Amino acid sequence: MFFTERLMLRGIDPEVDNAIFLQWTNNVESVNSITTSGPHPWSRERAKQLVEGRTKNADALPWFIICERPTPENEPASVLGPNDDYYRTADGQARYPAIGMLTMTKIGGATDVSRTVAFGILFDQSHQGKGLGTEVLRWFCNYTFSTLGYHRIELQMDAKNAKASNCYRKVGFVEEGRQRKKFWLEGEWRDVVGMAMLEEEWFKEHRLRDD
Ligand SMILES: CC(C)(COP(=O)(O)OP(=O)(O)OC[C@H]1O[C@@H](n2cnc3c(N)ncnc32)[C@H](O)[C@@H]1OP(=O)(O)O)[C@@H](O)C(=O)NCCC(=O)NCCS
Repeated sequence: MFFTERLMLRGIDPEVDNAIFLQWTNNVESVNSITTSGPHPWSRERAKQLVEGRTKNADALPWFIICERPTPENEPASVLGPNDDYYRTADGQARYPAIGMLTMTKIGGATDVSRTVAFGILFDQSHQGKGLGTEVLRWFCNYTFSTLGYHRIELQMDAKNAKASNCYRKVGFVEEGRQRKKFWLEGEWRDVVGMAMLEEEWFKEHRLRDD
């Protein structure tokens, strides 16, 4: 479990998170913002396979469910009742409902020496534009560089995704290049922009800070 000022990041629990994952993958705006393959309806089975496949792969880097940071009142009791556990309440609901998701993927296989990860991020619409993306990505950069020892974080995005690009720039990501007319969205060709941050860039700004 990881915490920022307003958020908690926990692992995925398919039993409680498949529902929200299915919701996100069937929302055209959400899908268009995180993929370049166009919106298609996702079946329950496909969403389940992706989430369960990822959670069962012990060699994969973590995917995080982002939740609101719990208050002392909604922390579980130290002795849990029947059918109650850390992620689920006794009636089967998520104890810490997802408001977003952060995925990380290692670039290259076992022999790759670039120490590079890519990430994906999505907040549900009611939690966008409140500074949470900036907050969680600052945590993520620190985790990736300081805790895991990676060297480079990179991403690719729709050049028209101003919200994402402004958020990434605010955190310190730098634009590296542009692939022109790379994918088709809403009746037009869109460019794909590549952005990245290097560990030395992060440490230059944050070595003495705790975030
Ligand atoms: C992209 C995303 C993660 C950003 O997180 P967020 O919490 O909404 O962003 P923040 O509130 O931290 O905003 C950071 C900066 O982005 C800019 N920003 C915020 N809302 C914006 C908007 N509607 N349009 C343009 N820029 C915007 C601002 O410059 C802001 O800085 P400021 O607060 O100092 O003014 C989030 O909006 C999201 O999940 N979007 C849908 C999925 C997505 O696009 N994922 C990225 C795929 S590459």
